[in-house]
This record gives sequence, C-alpha cells and structure tokens, in this order.
Amino acid sequence: WQKIAPRKASDPPVVFHWLPIIGSAIWYGNDPINFFQTCQERYGNVFTFILLGRKVTVALSAKGSNFVLGGKSIAFNAEGAYTHLTTPVFGKDVVYDCPNEVFMQQKKFVKFGLTTDTFRAYVGMIEDEVDEFMKKDARFRTYQQNDINEWGSFDAIAAMAEITILTASRTLQGKEVREGLNKSFSQLYTDLDGGFTPLNFLFANLPLESYRKRDRAQKKMSDFYVDIITRRKKNPDGDHHYDMIASLLDQKYRGGDKLKDHEIAHIMIALLMAGQHTSSATLAWTMLHLASRPDIADALYEEQVKRFANPDGSLRPMSYEDLRHLPILDSCIRETLRVHPPIHSIMRQVREDVPVPPSLAAPNKDGGVYVVPKDTYVLASPLISQVDPRIWKDSAEWQPARWNDADGVAAQALSEYTDEGGEKVDYGFGAVSKGTESPYQPFGAGKHRCIGEQFAYLQIGTIIATIIRKVELRLPTPVPDHNYHTLILMPKDPKSIHYRRRKFD
Ligand code: HEM
Repeated sequence: WQKIAPRKASDPPVVFHWLPIIGSAIWYGNDPINFFQTCQERYGNVFTFILLGRKVTVALSAKGSNFVLGGKSIAFNAEGAYTHLTTPVFGKDVVYDCPNEVFMQQKKFVKFGLTTDTFRAYVGMIEDEVDEFMKKDARFRTYQQNDINEWGSFDAIAAMAEITILTASRTLQGKEVREGLNKSFSQLYTDLDGGFTPLNFLFANLPLESYRKRDRAQKKMSDFYVDIITRRKKNPDGDHHYDMIASLLDQKYRGGDKLKDHEIAHIMIALLMAGQHTSSATLAWTMLHLASRPDIADALYEEQVKRFANPDGSLRPMSYEDLRHLPILDSCIRETLRVHPPIHSIMRQVREDVPVPPSLAAPNKDGGVYVVPKDTYVLASPLISQVDPRIWKDSAEWQPARWNDADGVAAQALSEYTDEGGEKVDYGFGAVSKGTESPYQPFGAGKHRCIGEQFAYLQIGTIIATIIRKVELRLPTPVPDHNYHTLILMPKDPKSIHYRRRKFD
C-alpha cells in the first residue's frame, strides 16, 4: 500500500469516500465514465481519488490529457505505472522493463517494420484469412451452405477475437506463429492473457493459479519465439520478408548492438498483447453498430461495390491504396474509437511534485495552484472529452457521418471547441488525433502514443470490408453497454449478431 500523506492546501480536491484504503475503487471499477463525469461536475477537471491505497489524480478535458500525456516523462512516468502488469506478461528487458531511452529505440524498430510495402502485402493476407474463417467456422454454417434465406448468428467478441489473432499472426507475427495457432500456441496465449486483467493491474503477484499459469506461459512463449529466431538465423534466406521478426533481426541499437534474441521474443509478445484486445474490441463494437444500423451497413456495402465491382458484378480484391479511399469505412472505425476507445484510463507514476496549470483548475483555497504530489499517480481519460456534449453534437450517438459529411461536422466541432477560459482552440482536421491537446485521442498522445494505429486501421478495415461483402447483418437487441470489468472496454451481453448471406458475393 502507498502511505497516504495528510492533505495539504495545494493537494487537488479528494473524492469523498467512506472506506479509507478502498476509497473510490468500487465506483471507479464498476463505471469509470459515470465516476469521472460525476466527479468532474463536483470538483472540476482535476481531482484525486483513492484506489486501493493509491492516490490517483485525474486530469480531465483536452487540457487535462495534455497535462498528463504531453508532460515530461521524468515527472510523469509510464514504467512506474505499468511495469508490474506488463513485465510478467511481455518478459524482461523490453517496453517498461528497460530504461525509457531503450524502449523508445525499440518503438522505432517496430515502426521501421511497418512500412508501406509490408502494408501492401498484408491486405491480401487478411482478406484470405477472413475468407478461410468464414468458409470453415461452424458459426458461419448458413453462409457456407449458400443459404440466402436463413439467418445464422455469431458472438461478436468471440468471433472477432479469433479473426484478430488469425490475421495478426498471418501478417505481423509471421508464418510460424500462424501455424502454431492450430497447436500449442493457442493455449499459451490464453494462459498469458489470463495475466492481463484488472486484478493483475492492482496486484503484481498473488498466490493464485492464474498467476502461476501466466508465468509458465510467459516462459514457454518466450522459448517458442527464441526457437523461431534461432531457426531463422540458421536459414536466413527463408520466405519471411514481411513479418516483424524479420525486420527486428536487422535492427541495431544506437551503440551498434543488435537486439538479443530474448528481446525480439519479448517485443513480439508485447505487440501480440497490445494489439489483440484493442483491435478485437474495436472490431466487435463496429460490427455491433453496423448490425444495429442496416442503413449504414448498406452504405458501406455500396461503397465497396462502387470501388471494386468487376463488369460481371463480382468484387475485386482490395489493395492498401484502395483502403485510403473508403471514407465510409474509415469513418465507421473512427466513430467507434470515439465512443468506445478500448483504453479508458491512461496512467503515469508521479516522480516529482508537478503544479497544475491555472488554465486547467481553479485556484486552491489559499489562492495558489494545485500541485500533484510526488509518489502518487496521474490519470488521463481521453474518453471523457470524446463524448463531451460541449464538443460533440449528439455526443453519445454512434454517427459515422459526422466524420465525412460535406461540412466536416466533426472537424468543425473540434475547431470550434472553446475551452473554459473562452480561448478558441483551432484543432484543424489533420491534428485531430495527433496533438497532445486534442479532444480525440483513442491512440493516446505524446511520447507513449500508440505505434499500432496504421496497422490496426488496416487490419480492422480489411476485416470489416471482407465480412460486409459477404453477409448482411442485424442486431436483435440494442447495442450492449460497456463492460468495465475487463482491462479493455468490451461490450456486455447480449452481443450476438445475426447474419445472412448476400445474394451476390
Ligand atoms: C500505446 C491504443 C493497437 C502497440 C497505446 C496507447 C493507446 C493505444 C491509448 C497509449 C498508452 C499510454 O499512453 O499509456 C490502441 C488502440 C488500438 C491499438 C485503440 C487498436 C484499435 C495497437 C497495435 C499495436 C499496438 C495493433 C501493435 C502492433 C502499442 C505500443 C504502444 C501503444 C507498442 C506504446 C506504449 C508506450 O509507448 O508506452 N495504444 N492501440 N497498439 N500501442 Fe496501441
């Protein structure tokens, strides 16, 4: 437990709670959005709450995200907030288990592996995987039987999780991982994934079977990748041009050293885990919304027909270049990430006292600024700005058209956004998701911003387009609420989607 120091005048307001150590953990854990919004009304954009003995200062609004994510990493430190969760899963010497300067080089190595050439190759591979999946998986029986009258159904989360791991392993992870998915790799993945839960975030180690399974699986998975690397080194001319292992094998740190085998292995595990739930949740939410809005799903299908129809009515395969010219597809993903960003809380450990800028919080009762104290935590939640009714018209509604209608409604909403001080902030469309002070940040911002954005768009976009070409979708129930009991924002039950084969595919 963190020893909670007595309150000073410069400490941000503390959320009222009855139980000293538990603090607001139950409210935050059950519904962080309601918790943040209610506290924002009561205390303003900056407030502190107690989370199982930890002091966490929340900074809301675009300025709040800028404060946390655009701050110096010496003061607001990601390693200190995450390493107890990630190192037992990813393994040693990578990401948050190495000096930040080394991790920043590792991030660059991964970026080098995500080139336009690799992306060009990936689109066809992803189409193939989705095709195969729908031809073989029992859930797509009525599709396989060519039955255009009977409706079948699939569970949005389970089916999209499978398609995500199949496509990520076929592309980024490489042939050996894809082959391993039919064998022991799947179980290792499941056990390792069992170590990526809110409980693991709160407690690094507990004497529980899930923790033991996590540790055994981490060791075996690390060995699995090291074995692939050893075999590839013996046979460097193999056919692995487009995957990340091949790219990482070529990279060198600034001093000239190549990456060690276990570092490559652990970076690969980190990429697998970072991309799996984030992308599959985005896919599941997009599919659920499309199924509940057949008009938008139809427009998406028409967009495919318009661009890809052959003279005989069949649809030609997509290319990477094509994906950049499908505004409806793009806006459906963009809008899903606005309303359901997979990561609702971004945390940092505070390593020195940091004053809160006056533009973010009113003066404290002594007339001075608040100070976030050293040895506590800060939290940004871009989600709150992404659904702020002061910024977004009909903010709670999933309306992809806001991103690409003629007036650029979303762009306007952002550029017209005026902060509390009355100062006009010109975000401009291009800056929407890049700046540290944007009210739209599903991929984070600043030094720790996501490097998987382009890959995720390509993967999610290709999967959705491939499915929508083949089937119509319907949702017999309303779009489910958020389930906050997983680390990533997932849909609650019921999440079953009904589908029917299209007449022409
Ligand atoms: C970081 C979201 C997919 C790899 C992040 C962060 C967010 C995020 C919000 C910032 C975390 C922080 O500041 O603490 C997403 C979403 C995704 C996605 C919404 C899909 C829809 C991926 C994929 C990969 C990936 C596919 C890998 C191929 C990473 C890495 C970081 C990161 C390596 C850097 C962490 C750091 O620098 O500390 N992601 N991500 N992500 N993501 Fe993603």
